[in-house]
Parts: sequence; C-alpha cells; structure tokens
Amino acid sequence: MSAPHVVVLTGAGISAESGLGTFRGSGGLWEGYKISEVATPEGWERDFKKVLQFYNERRRKVEIAQPNEAHAALAHLQEVFKVTIITQNIDDLHQRAGSINVLHLHGEITKARSSRSSEMVIPIGYADIHPGQTATDGSQLRPHVVWFGEAVPMMERAIKIASTADFFMVVGTSLEVYPAASLIDYVPADATRFLIDPNPTLVADDTWNVLRVSASEGVPSVCRQIRALMA
Ligand code: OAD
Repeated sequence: MSAPHVVVLTGAGISAESGLGTFRGSGGLWEGYKISEVATPEGWERDFKKVLQFYNERRRKVEIAQPNEAHAALAHLQEVFKVTIITQNIDDLHQRAGSINVLHLHGEITKARSSRSSEMVIPIGYADIHPGQTATDGSQLRPHVVWFGEAVPMMERAIKIASTADFFMVVGTSLEVYPAASLIDYVPADATRFLIDPNPTLVADDTWNVLRVSASEGVPSVCRQIRALMA
C-alpha cells in the first residue's frame, strides 16, 4: 500500500512567525503598498524601478528569515507520508526546512525571468535585480512572481495534487485570492481536512477540523494527530 498523501496549502501566515509579514489585515503589507503599483503588469509598465525595489526589499527579508516550527514539522512529516506543499508564498522557507515537493503557485522570489517570456527563468538567490539587467532575450529581468491579472501556470498541477489528498491542511491563508482559493473545492470528500489560522476567514463547515492557533503551534499538533491516526 502506498503512503497516504498529505497535501498542504500554505499562505503568508505560515511565514509570519519567521518575520515575514502577511498581506491583509492591520499591519499587512498591502496597507503600506498599493497592489496596483507593485503587483500588476500595469504597475510594471508604469514604474518598473519601483517594482524592482519592492521585490528587492522582500528578497532581503527572506534571506534573513529562518524557517519556523511549522515549516520544520511539515518537512519531518515526509519521513512517514507522501507530502506535497502547495504554497502561495514566494519565499523559500519550506525548501530550507527540508520539504522536497513544493509547488509555488505565485512564483519564487529567488528567481528572475525575462519580462518578455515567462519561460525564461533564472535562479538569482538573494541578489537584487537592477534596472538594465537583462535576460538573454535582451528584455529587462523581472521577479519570477505571478502578479494580479496574470495567469497562474501551476494551477492545473495544483488541482491534480489537491484531488489526490488523503489529508488536506490549509495553513495561514485568508483564501481571498483566486484561483488559489478554489483549490479546496477539489479536495476529495473523504479527505480529512484541517484549517490552521488564528483568525480564519473561511466559513468552515463541520468537514473541517479548525485550529484557531498560530502555525508554529497548530502545524506540529496536526502533524502529530495525522501520525497518530495512521499508527
Ligand atoms: P493574507 O495576508 O491574505 O492572509 C494571511 C492569513 O494568515 C490570515 O488569514 C491570517 O489570519 C493568518 N495568520 C496570521 N498570522 C498567522 C500565524 N502566525 N500562523 C498562522 N496563520 C496566521 O495572505 P495570503 O492568503 O497568503 O499574492 O495571500 C494570498 C496572496 O495574496 C499572496 O500569495 C499574494 C497576496 O497578494 C500575490 O502577490 C499574487
């Protein structure tokens, strides 16, 4: 028998205790920046230097952040289960904690790409992207992130993954951004579902096990529960 499949959908909340801010709500990133200016193709056309600066700042914060106990617990779960993480986060904290199967729905801050072709992607680590720095096709390099109004190329793969879940965990996301939020609609009816968020916005019915706690407390606890169920 193959190992049960644990699928985890994560958002900014899982990295909050690592010092990376969330987007919405009081103190969220979108309070200080306009989405239209820094996270849309139109914003890029209008002032690409401002967009580069915004993501250069994000990348520097990711570099100094460390994975927390939630990231670590998910990595440990791989010892016993097949674990796939679908993250809306552009940070690399899941990988740095040791998770292997990580699908980034909204791109990765540690990569840059041609502003002409979404296929031409290069790893840049934590280095800034500068104005005038070009891809091999001669176009300005931009962050390898998905902006509002752009397609989410990984969505099809994410749907396939969600639809094979035996356990489905949602951690630290407001589920306000589509299509990512629609992934919960593809979870099999008989999958065991957990929602971990101190302030969840999803109106969860009784098919969800809701833990209104932080990720660093809730994720290790759910991982222990899943291990116990399968012991
Ligand atoms: P949001 O900022 O919308 O939601 C963060 C969620 O994390 C909220 O539900 C919080 O209650 C929760 N939260 C806060 N602290 C937490 C903690 N310590 N532990 C667990 N949960 C905590 O962030 P996302 O849902 O990730 O997209 O946002 C989705 C997308 O919107 C992002 O990927 C980004 C953003 O605009 C793009 O830029 C395309």
